[in-house]
Amino acid sequence: MKVARVTISDRASRGVYEDQGGPAIAMWVETLFAEEIVWEIRLIPDEEAEIAAVLTDLADGCDCALILTTGGTGPALRDVTPEATRRVLDKELPGFGEAMRMGSFQRVPTAILSRAVAGIRGRSLLVNLPGNPKAVGECLPLLAPAIAEALDHIRGERPSLRPAL
Ligand code: MTE
Repeated sequence: MKVARVTISDRASRGVYEDQGGPAIAMWVETLFAEEIVWEIRLIPDEEAEIAAVLTDLADGCDCALILTTGGTGPALRDVTPEATRRVLDKELPGFGEAMRMGSFQRVPTAILSRAVAGIRGRSLLVNLPGNPKAVGECLPLLAPAIAEALDHIRGERPSLRPAL
């Protein structure tokens, strides 16, 4: 399965700190899915037009089944990942963001600060995840069954999940 992980962070893309969100996505996808994963990896700043261009290329050019972003979903001025993602979606799937916020809220009251969106572009499923690597691990396991189901609907290929840990 071809999967993209896109880290969206001004500071990580300038090398001010190490990208931890991207590796957290890789670790969780490989833990949750039993498929062999072919990765497309991107690290870009919080620039709406650049984010939209990268997401479009990963969907239309690379034909990634799944495109996962990390970062830029919060309320800060430079956080524009949801706006860029909406620009490229054919169809929004609001349940993904709702599940992440609700699923984490009891334990992490700040989870509702994430404005993450998700949806379909062509044959690709795009999902925004929060930037914090721990948050990636709190959100992705909640979404894995719906990711598998959505990929079956849009591609006719359902990735197998590993049995629950
Ligand atoms: N979700 C979970 N599960 N755990 C977290 O620690 N952090 C929140 C939220 N979602 C968090 C979370 C915080 S503090 C913010 S500001 C938003 O995600 C947005 O983060 P981002 O701008 O790095 O995407």
